[in-house]
Amino acid sequence: MSFEKVTIQDCELYLGDCLEVVESLPNVDAVISDPPYGMNLNTDNLRFSGGARSNMAKRGQGGGPGGGKPIVGDDKPFDPAPFADFGKVVLWGVNHFGERVNVGTQLVWIKRFDHAFGSFLSDAEIAWMKGGCGVYCKRDLSLNAVAKTRKHPTQKPVKIMEWCIEKAKIKNHETVLDPYMGSGTTGVACVNLGRKFIGIEIEPKYFDIACERIEKAYQTRPRLFEAIEEKKPKQQQLFGEICD
Ligand SMILES: C[S@@+](CC[C@H](N)C(=O)[O-])C[C@H]1O[C@@H](n2cnc3c(N)ncnc32)[C@H](O)[C@@H]1O
Repeated sequence: MSFEKVTIQDCELYLGDCLEVVESLPNVDAVISDPPYGMNLNTDNLRFSGGARSNMAKRGQGGGPGGGKPIVGDDKPFDPAPFADFGKVVLWGVNHFGERVNVGTQLVWIKRFDHAFGSFLSDAEIAWMKGGCGVYCKRDLSLNAVAKTRKHPTQKPVKIMEWCIEKAKIKNHETVLDPYMGSGTTGVACVNLGRKFIGIEIEPKYFDIACERIEKAYQTRPRLFEAIEEKKPKQQQLFGEICD
């Protein structure tokens, strides 16, 4: 079996069907992913006009990064079984497949301001994390700010995927797999936190976007690390000569 594979430093990115690619992967310590939930999502952002006349006129024309095209795999229920046996697992959308996983920890991403609770669509999204039974919440409102620059119709905030890496206690040397990588957000989070990453995406358009975002994350990351290095206080010599 051959797949297109792109390697960018510590990230291996595959263009193909994850259920085939995963068979050939060595050494995966963790799966952190946002799979297609099986909700037949309508990706046309302009189907809701929000009261704006200009949007009303554009309804049905396929606005937003998905262009109105369905998400591959979103037409059938998600089966977590191929990924549930990995050591550490975080899967978003558990409200759609809760009956197919064991009791676990719930990670709740609160995506709106208090005053807007209950007003329109969901207030939060929920991930299942293997093991434990706690419930942890993180508020991140960044989607409101980046709505116009999003590259994928169901793109997750980078900070939320970084939070998953922290909550799942992924160690520095461990490799994270995202079998439903989309625009590569989990990969960008791994680059930012210095973790190894394997991503798989079936749609060429989103695969290319993921490659670009991960490449860019590496270009900006060293400057961040250098800045941290520069800020570190220099060790003071307290007692004259330093002894070996
Ligand atoms: C919910 S989206 C993930 C979006 C991602 N969290 C992001 O921030 O961009 C799921 C992705 O899985 C991809 N996909 C669906 N079935 C797949 C399969 N069998 N193998 C690999 N990718 C698949 C879809 O094309 C879609 O981009």
